[in-house]
Parts: sequence; C-alpha cells; structure tokens
Amino acid sequence: MDTLNLIKSRRSVRKFKKANVSAKTIEEVLTAGSWAPSGLNNQPWRFMVLSGKEKAALVKFTHYSYVIKGADKIILVFLDKKSSYNLERDLMAIGACIQNMLLYIHSQKLGACWLGEILNKRQKINKFLCLSKNLQLQAAIAIGKPSVRYLPGKRRILKKFLIYA
Ligand SMILES: Cc1cc2nc3c(=O)[nH]c(=O)nc-3n(C[C@H](O)[C@H](O)[C@H](O)COP(=O)(O)O)c2cc1C
Repeated sequence: MDTLNLIKSRRSVRKFKKANVSAKTIEEVLTAGSWAPSGLNNQPWRFMVLSGKEKAALVKFTHYSYVIKGADKIILVFLDKKSSYNLERDLMAIGACIQNMLLYIHSQKLGACWLGEILNKRQKINKFLCLSKNLQLQAAIAIGKPSVRYLPGKRRILKKFLIYA
C-alpha cells in the first residue's frame, strides 16, 4: 500500500478479536514511535505496555472500558517531564510519536485506538502504577486484531483547511 493510502485507510479500531499481539510486534510499534521527530531530538516519550490483570485494572479509569477490555494490550504513553525542554513542542513530538505507532500498527493489519479521555484520571493511574509524578500520561493506545472491517473515514474537504492572505 502506498503511504497516502496507508494514512487515509487507518481508522480508530475499538472492537477486537481475541488474538495475541506478539512481543516482537510491540517492540516494532515502540520503535516506530521512538523514531518520531522531537525538538532538540530530546525524545520526551516514555512507554509502558500493559496486558492481563494490569490492563484489566485500567477499566475503572475510563468510560472506554470496552475498548480496554477487548484490546490485547495497552500502550501508555507518557511525557517525561525531566527530559522536557518546552511543553508545547514536547507535546507535539509525543503526538508525532503516537501517529507513527498508529500507522505502523495499521500497516501490520492490526488495529488501534488513541484514548485521550482516560487522561482525566491520569493522577490516579500514576498512583495505581506507582509511577513518579515526572511521568505525565498523554495517551493510552489500545492495540489488537480488529474484529470489524475498516470503514472509510470522514474528513472535511481539503479546501476548508486552506487559509489565504
Ligand atoms: C487526542 C485524541 C484523543 C482521542 N480520544 C479518544 C477517546 O478517548 N476515545 C475514543 O474512542 N477515541 C478517541 N480518539 C479517536 C478519535 O475519536 C478518532 O481519531 C476520530 O474520531 C477520527 O476517526 P479515525 O481515527 O477513525 O479516523 C482520540 C483521538 C485523538 C487524536
């Protein structure tokens, strides 16, 4: 698939089959994330991969518990405040890191959903996982084998995004 079609055909996948995502694939996903650009190349992202009981325990922190339950694994993406040099630019880098991961996941015929609502409970999650306050949760990525067909997505026509002087 060419790159534009890969980008356009990626969808948020919220329903998954019961299937294992291998440790090798997870390592490749994290590698894709870690090759994102970042300001001063400071690579402010940190990852934690949850499965089994730890993953199951996350459901109490989100309205999207069905996505967490169905996914084989959850990748938590944190900003490491200790390595941060500029919050705005570090968060942009983390967005790029997450998109790299989503596209790689899609390229492997797996599915993923970027979960942001769970951030409402980020402090409680850190406490539950015994993590330092320097690690600020930025997203949870649910990953698994999709159980539904990809539907075409919806975007406004390109013209709507263009600004002219
Ligand atoms: C910052 C951010 C937060 C998001 N949070 C959630 C979420 O909490 N739950 C959810 O189901 N989808 C979430 N999404 C996925 C969006 O709903 C989805 O990307 C959007 O509707 C476009 O659909 P598509 O990804 O299939 O193209 C989030 C996406 C982004 C970028």
